[in-house]
Amino acid sequence: MTDKKLSKIAAPKGVPDYIPPVSAEFITIRDTFAHQVRLAGYDHIELPIFEETALFARGVGESTDVVSKEMYTFADRGDRMVTLRPEGTAGVMRVVIEHNLDRGQLPVKLSYYGPFFRYERPQAGRYRQLQQVGVEAIGVDDPALDAEVIALADRCFRSIGLSGYRLELTSLGDSSCRPAYREKLQEFLFTLPLDDETRRRAEINPLRVLDDKRPEVKEMTAEAPLMLDYLSDESRSHFETVTGLLEDLGVRYQINPRMVRGLDYYTKTCFEFVHDGLGAQSGIGGGGRYDGLMAQLGGQELSGIGFGLGVDRALLALQAEQKSVSDGSRVDVFGVALGSVAKKRMVLLVDALRAAGIRADMSYGDRGLKGAMKGADRAGAKFALVLGESELETGTVAVKNLRDHEQETIALESAVETISALIDNEA
Ligand code: HAM
Repeated sequence: MTDKKLSKIAAPKGVPDYIPPVSAEFITIRDTFAHQVRLAGYDHIELPIFEETALFARGVGESTDVVSKEMYTFADRGDRMVTLRPEGTAGVMRVVIEHNLDRGQLPVKLSYYGPFFRYERPQAGRYRQLQQVGVEAIGVDDPALDAEVIALADRCFRSIGLSGYRLELTSLGDSSCRPAYREKLQEFLFTLPLDDETRRRAEINPLRVLDDKRPEVKEMTAEAPLMLDYLSDESRSHFETVTGLLEDLGVRYQINPRMVRGLDYYTKTCFEFVHDGLGAQSGIGGGGRYDGLMAQLGGQELSGIGFGLGVDRALLALQAEQKSVSDGSRVDVFGVALGSVAKKRMVLLVDALRAAGIRADMSYGDRGLKGAMKGADRAGAKFALVLGESELETGTVAVKNLRDHEQETIALESAVETISALIDNEA
């Protein structure tokens, strides 16, 4: 043992800690999204946190920043290259193919949530560990399904009370019109004085050049041909059905013909939810259809559509709108026992309250009445239960309403039922 004080260890750069009371907001947002997607018939799937690197290289696309610059990739102890998942769609496809989920009833509707990892430059709202709730509907290319997925994302955001966002929409066409458009775009781009790296990008995936944030490139590409002007009849009618259904559903949208998503697998419908209160990192969720992804990963030629909603950014957006989804309380009831006999009885009462589904905690250590009542306040409890010698003698417990400071004495024997009724009355 030395007397030297060890240095503290901080969280890895770009990784958020969610601590109380914000963690309650975080969990409520995630759970509300998860609840909404369950209501729409999406089954939960628990995906591995890491996968073979090839899955993302092939699935997400080599020309994307996500694959070329941002993956947490390492060799495991058996020298296999593995990657912390940067997104969920490729992993879901792998599972569907591996477990033949696409051999049954279609569409296969799956949802997932949890952390994803991207080695991005950290800034407000851009993290290296980010959290999403996502869905994928696989196996049916029906524009009604596109509308369902988009409307579901919108419902998720509304259900946490968000309102200051807009939905942007476009179509990226399909294999019958995209190649011709790609050529047109490349023809245009190759006339521009692009630097070598950008030119290379234009060769691999010219769409990505339209996503370049540098003002000089933006200016040069302002007149670039747009996919929406080159859609095949089939893609156009698909897109029109989607937008028509969204209108019927009352989901407002704007067409953004220059939208470029950060992942390569998209075809046809593509969308992004953008919040105005977030600054540069304004995308709170996005997704789209992907026709070729499953085949690209060795599966059948099946189309799919899905979204990923950013839980971290939804939380930031909620804070920007000065809204909250949690009342900040840890429990409803807080037990205050005075003396060791009372404490033993309180342990049982708190246990019985929890068994009845009531959120309950109690004071520990030898705190006096005042200190213990402070604990009740800090926990955000609605009621404090005070059990002292005199209550024990009469088989009662004092219930203090911490909002209006009214106090009443109830029978200890039927305390759980009485407290349960009191809580229902407060709600
Ligand atoms: P994505 O647009 O890359 O799509 O990510 C979805 C959402 O995750 C974004 O809109 C954003 O809210 C959040 N997000 C992404 N990167 C970060 C970051 N560094 N920090 C904080 N939040 C972030 C996908 O991942 C696709 N897999 C979605 C999808 C599902 N498409 C079809 N199916």
